[in-house]
Amino acid sequence: MRQIALIDANDKANYVQWFRNSSPYINAFRDRTFVIAFGGEMLADAQFAPLVHDLALLNSLGVRLVLVHGARPQIEQRLNEQGIKLNYANDIRITDDEALKCVKQASGSVRVEIEALLSMGVSNTPMDSADIRVASGNYVIAKPIGILDGIDFQHTGEVRRIDDEAIHTHLDEGAIVLLSPLGYSPTGEIFNLTAEDVATAAAIQLQADKLIYLVDNDGVSDGQQLIRELTLAEIEKLSLSEQAKDIQKCLHSAVQVCHSGVPRTHLINRHIDGSILLELFTRDGLGTLITAESFEDTRQAAIDDVGGLLELIEPLEDEGVLVRRSRERLEMEIDHFTVVERDGMIVACAALYPYVKEKMAELACLVVHPDYRKQNRADMLFSYLEKQAKQDGINSIFVLTTRTAHWFQERGFNEIDIKKLPMEKQALYNYQRNSKVFMKKI
Ligand code: ARG
Repeated sequence: MRQIALIDANDKANYVQWFRNSSPYINAFRDRTFVIAFGGEMLADAQFAPLVHDLALLNSLGVRLVLVHGARPQIEQRLNEQGIKLNYANDIRITDDEALKCVKQASGSVRVEIEALLSMGVSNTPMDSADIRVASGNYVIAKPIGILDGIDFQHTGEVRRIDDEAIHTHLDEGAIVLLSPLGYSPTGEIFNLTAEDVATAAAIQLQADKLIYLVDNDGVSDGQQLIRELTLAEIEKLSLSEQAKDIQKCLHSAVQVCHSGVPRTHLINRHIDGSILLELFTRDGLGTLITAESFEDTRQAAIDDVGGLLELIEPLEDEGVLVRRSRERLEMEIDHFTVVERDGMIVACAALYPYVKEKMAELACLVVHPDYRKQNRADMLFSYLEKQAKQDGINSIFVLTTRTAHWFQERGFNEIDIKKLPMEKQALYNYQRNSKVFMKKI
């Protein structure tokens, strides 16, 4: 309570806004399965304890969690301590008998540490006494990589299958399932696996809703800045060799799981406190999201969009920038509207009213949500409409505007006399509003 009293009015408003905005995700994620993978590096990180708390929080919100941990630094440390040389071929570690011992010890100790942290609950909060059960076991069935190009990889293996039934049983009981980079063969052998391989196989076989990788940097970058969203087609065009090694592996995995029906793969920075919450509970997240189809979609509006459209345009009607449209009118004219939908929310819209005889169309109600301005959306939407209009045999687009003339002028519109408008439109012209008329040949 004391803390709440210290929050100023601004923070309160932000908090309320933030909580409201996250609630659709809280609901959407209940009973969903997320596979979350992180390297062994994470354990030594200052962010590890807060991450485990966030995982406990997700568990308490009803998310079915499967954690996959790596153990590379821990394995390497043990090998070094014992003076055992590391042997790699094609970037894959060769696990001989000595190395396998280290792998077993390292994976075991990492697993125990994670289990201990998860047992701790979230101290000094109402979640203090929340009991979180962790299940781990022989859920990964593996096979040897075998001999590749004459090199015997010995105890290095790959996933053969995941015991999804056993995992689902634990998830049904509300437990968090923890998978190590180890796999067992039906003949009782143990194999060293990569965390990515385990995570990929688990996400696919469990038909997870998300695969989440906690990585060393912000996500996938184009060399200059972070790419926030990527489709499979866009990944194909990306030059993978320019990405960091761990990102390459994650992308490879993302493509595989995406092809197998896992809808979303996220790459997020493990060094940021709460990064997983920011990614999951905000519409824009903070890392890179990989999906089969585009995360944002421009499409013709349908009757179900009326509510979202009203929310978007009403503030501008209140300001007098747009002429007021009633819900009924919007419903009637819905076919003329195009919307940009971002994860269920309409972030931009525009309407095009054709005058077929005159081969003209009026562009109206071009609106972009305040949070998404200055990101080129209006331009994208406009070129989308321009293309559509052309296909429909329209050769000029006009707008009536009182306040945004410059935007249209910058895009090749010229002011014209009202008399150049279709007769039908002239008859409706509101002299009191005194809008200017701009036209563009397309
Ligand atoms: N919070 C949403 C989700 O978890 C959207 C995240 C969007 N992330 C992004 N990098 N664009 O699915």
